[in-house]
Formats: sequence, structure tokens, C-alpha cells
Amino acid sequence: MSVRHFLTLTDFSSQELKALIQRAIELKAMQKKKEIYEPLKNQVLGMVFEKSSTRTRVSFETGMIQFGGSAIFLSPRDTQLGRGEPIEDSARVLSRMVDAIMIRTFEHEKIELFAKYSSVPVINALTDRFHPCQLLADMQTWFEHCGDIAGKTATWIGDGNNMCHSYINAARQFDFKLNIATPEGYEPDADLVKIAGDHVEMISDPVNASRNSDLIVTDVWASMGQEEEQKKREEAFRGYQVNDNIMGIANSDAIFMHCLPAHRGEEVSADVIDGQQSVVWDEAENRLHAQKALLEILLK
Ligand code: CP
Ligand code: NVA
Repeated sequence: MSVRHFLTLTDFSSQELKALIQRAIELKAMQKKKEIYEPLKNQVLGMVFEKSSTRTRVSFETGMIQFGGSAIFLSPRDTQLGRGEPIEDSARVLSRMVDAIMIRTFEHEKIELFAKYSSVPVINALTDRFHPCQLLADMQTWFEHCGDIAGKTATWIGDGNNMCHSYINAARQFDFKLNIATPEGYEPDADLVKIAGDHVEMISDPVNASRNSDLIVTDVWASMGQEEEQKKREEAFRGYQVNDNIMGIANSDAIFMHCLPAHRGEEVSADVIDGQQSVVWDEAENRLHAQKALLEILLK
């Protein structure tokens, strides 16, 4: 049987994703009750990080420990990965030792190549193109706060980046409508938008895009690896801040999400991220529970 990877949300069916979210909610309740549940005893997750992380690292590591297993942090600085050992070789070697591998890297093609040569499941913990694990947490958070997301409207404001691409996939898989407002030149991948069909609408004006919306979501203007574009992007994204004006246009019970880390005063105002409609702390916590559900599916 071929190994199952999780490189994008489209690697799982819509039913599987919904079941995963329900399982994440159950695992969260079990954890809150301090119930011991160790389905992954003696199993090891290799965690390759070529970019920084707080949430992803801590949630995967904690999840493995709670499940009775363990995790190994691998950075290119002190492994042969950083000295040019071929990805194909690294994948074959690491997957002969650990039970699953989580990777955060730059080019999405790199994780695809790694997965091709890995004999154990590979999990995308963020590439320049997608961040599917974050969407599991976002969807769990939505379901906990508001029930099913099918038929609802979400609005993405800001960069057409890895998070935006994963929202496009989520709109297809969870059957919601996604309005996307980006400045010219920062649109998401046109092919992804096309495949999403009626699920996605490009509305460049953030105010118009927020009308009738149930969920407002944004992300940093300059992602990891784009630090030198910060100034240029601040100019381009002026007018794309999620603030009280935007939340006032959206439905009155709309919620606000951000994958974090956030830059208050840039993509979101402090009033919004620290305000009543923000669910960002639940969203961050749910990285743990949603990824435990993912690990359970891939490894148990
Ligand atoms: N949201 C997210 O992936 O956070 P980290 O970069 O801290 O892992
Ligand atoms: N778009 C951001 C997400 C960080 C979790 C980045 O890639 O840096």
C-alpha cells in the first residue's frame, strides 16, 4: 500500500477532513479532562524546520508527547540537509528511522520530492505555497464557534500567499464561499482560483469583499523569506488592514482569524485582534488538537 502524505488539503477527501475536525474536537475534550490516550507509543516524528516557528513546532512536539511518542527537531544548520545532501537521499534515510516526517520549507516542489522518496507519511508544516495544517486548526475553530461552515462566506484580506492558497482549497473542501481582496500584483495563483470555481470570488476592494461575510481572515504582508520586501509591501498593502471599519461592514456576528504571528498596526489593528470578535487564541491552541487528529489518521 502506498504511503499517505498530507501536503495540501486536497490530499484528503472532504468527508475525511470533516471527520478529522470532529476528531480534533473530541481529542481536545479528552485532553482537557487530562485523559491519558497514547496511541502512538514509541513512535517518532522527525520535524524538519528550514524556517522559524513557534506554534507549529510546539504543537507537533507536544502532540507527539501527549500521544506517548516523541519528536526530533531537525534544522538545516546542524544536519546534512543544510550542506546539500540530496533531498531524495535525506528522505530515504530519515524515513527508515522515524515514523512520520513534518517539513517546513520554502519551495513546495521540495516537499513533493521528499514525499516521493519517503517510505513514511510526510506532513506539510508550511511551504511558500501552502499551509494546510493551519487550515485544520482554522476549520476546527470555526466549527467550535459557529457550527458547519458550508454555505457561509469568508473574506481573505491581504496577500495572496500560502495561507490564502490553503483557504482557497478549504473553500472547495468545506464548501464555503471565499471573497479575496488583494492589492494588484499580489493575487493568489490564478490556476488555484480557477479550479475553485464559484467557491472563490476576487473582489479587490476590501470593504466590498467584507460585505455579508461571516469570517474575516488575514495574514502578514511579508511572509518568511520576503523580509527584504517589507517596505515595498507596506506601501502596496496600505488600505488592506483589517480594522473596526472592516469588521463593521462584515456580518455583526462575524469572527476574525489570523494564523499568527501578527503585526498589529499593519495587516490588523490592535482593536480587532484583541477585540471581542477575534478567536485567534483558540485558533492557535487548535493547532495542537487538529494536528493530533492528523497524526492519528496517518500513523495509527
Ligand atoms: N501559524 C504558524 O504556523 O505559526 P508558527 O510560524 O509560529 O509555527
Ligand atoms: N504567510 C506566513 C505564515 C506564517 C505562519 C509565512 O509564510 O510567513
